[in-house]
Amino acid sequence: MEPKHLISIRDLSAKDVSEVFRLTVDLKATPDRFRTSLAGKTIGLFFQSPSTRTRTAFHVAMYQLGGLAIDLNDRDMQSSRGESMADTAKTLSRYLDGIVARMGSHAHLVELSRNADVPVINGLTDLLHPCQVLGDFLTLIEKKGSLTGRKLAYVGPGNHMCHSLIYGAIKSGMNVAVAAPAGYEPKSLILKSANREASAAGVTITVTDNPAAAVQGADVVYTDAWVSIGQEAQAADRVEALAPYQVNSALMSQAKPDALFMHCLPAHREEEVTAEVIDGPQSVVFEQAENRLHVTKAILIRLLSGV
Ligand code: CP
Repeated sequence: MEPKHLISIRDLSAKDVSEVFRLTVDLKATPDRFRTSLAGKTIGLFFQSPSTRTRTAFHVAMYQLGGLAIDLNDRDMQSSRGESMADTAKTLSRYLDGIVARMGSHAHLVELSRNADVPVINGLTDLLHPCQVLGDFLTLIEKKGSLTGRKLAYVGPGNHMCHSLIYGAIKSGMNVAVAAPAGYEPKSLILKSANREASAAGVTITVTDNPAAAVQGADVVYTDAWVSIGQEAQAADRVEALAPYQVNSALMSQAKPDALFMHCLPAHREEEVTAEVIDGPQSVVFEQAENRLHVTKAILIRLLSGV
């Protein structure tokens, strides 16, 4: 039987997403019930780049569920000397019950998953970040209740976060407005599939270069770092292009008065967001960070024990 992977939110049905959230609510309320849910199971964290939240959440989640997580940093693996993703996947499948992979190239993650006999979980690629977005939408439900018909404004580069937020919003019945400068829009491949699925779900996805228009009437304003992992060489150009897209108090005042501010972290104060906003009363960034742990447990239980 093919293993179940988590590569994109798009691969999950709306029912799958709500079941992940239902299980996460149980995990938060009664963690002791799940102390042995993954006893005897081992996952590997195959990471090609640094991580604070994702790596720690998976380690702690496995410990609290009775299993084990081991670090497989790319620099210590033969993959860094040219061993193929296919051979790496086939080998790791003989030792592990699941692989969490953080890859610079989404294509490498797909190759890994196609050759693995155990579940592969996307811990961030250049295209998508599904685990982050599941934690984020759980945070939104906790704060706002039903998300149907609400508006999420994403202000910043059209990157992996933006893409996964678009897919997550479609599953949650939210409308999305993206504000990004020319040349930094979400990938057209993502927008094409998202627009098709958005009309079927009765929601809208709009892309503009005007941050105030995107934020108008929004229930949540989300931003992300202007320079992601691997984009360091383009930092100066990106900072210049994205400077008008900073989330500050003036921009937040265009959203609903009770709008939330969200950021996946790590944040760069006075670049993509001012300290006043990220450290202010509308910000829920550390609730998001905490929910990474809870939702990670639900993902692991569903993929590794088939609940
Ligand atoms: N948001 C997020 O994925 O954080 P890390 O890069 O620290 O894992």
